Amino acid sequence: MPDPDLIIREAVIEDVDSIMDLEKGSIAHPWVRSEFESLINDSNKICLIIESEGKCVCYVGADIVLDESNIGNIVTAPECRGRGFGTKLMNALLDELKKRGAAKVFLEVEHDNAPALALYEHCGFEKYGRRRDYYGAGRDAVLLSKCID
Ligand SMILES: CC(C)(COP(=O)(O)OP(=O)(O)OC[C@H]1O[C@@H](n2cnc3c(N)ncnc32)[C@H](O)[C@@H]1OP(=O)(O)O)[C@@H](O)C(=O)NCCC(=O)NCCS
Repeated sequence: MPDPDLIIREAVIEDVDSIMDLEKGSIAHPWVRSEFESLINDSNKICLIIESEGKCVCYVGADIVLDESNIGNIVTAPECRGRGFGTKLMNALLDELKKRGAAKVFLEVEHDNAPALALYEHCGFEKYGRRRDYYGAGRDAVLLSKCID
């Protein structure tokens, strides 16, 4: 059922605390505050969030260099996972990146992160490589990309 209370919007600096809360417990090496401030303030970067009942429940961050974009992270609050929020926000990000001139989008994900791999494949990303031990011994990165031009 669609959630009438869901708002998808660009993050503002006042959202940093709730975005950092989202990362805690979900990401092995959470970003520090200055990285989020740069994500929000830098015109070559973009941070989108889903707000539900006044709370940030999903965020995604990316940068754009010429016609290429790299997606840094996407996190959904644990209690909201599996409800399509990640897919919704990723599709909103891809639309926005296209508007801003990106033609190809890249990201990497740990090889055994099944929910993230499912999300990216669902959104049309394709595997093009693998970096051995990228996240530590035995923890490879799968490299994915998607053309959006
Ligand atoms: C990855 C993540 C953002 C997905 O967010 P979400 O809001 O649950 O995503 P969606 O509800 O849109 O589901 C996306 C896909 O993941 C699948 N999925 C959800 N939970 C899953 C699980 N536990 N195992 C396997 N697949 C799962 C869904 O079935 C869906 O695929 P489908 O529509 O083809 O069936 C979320 O699991 C998360 O925050 N994980 C921790 C942070 C993380 O690992 N981020 C990625 C770093 S690169």
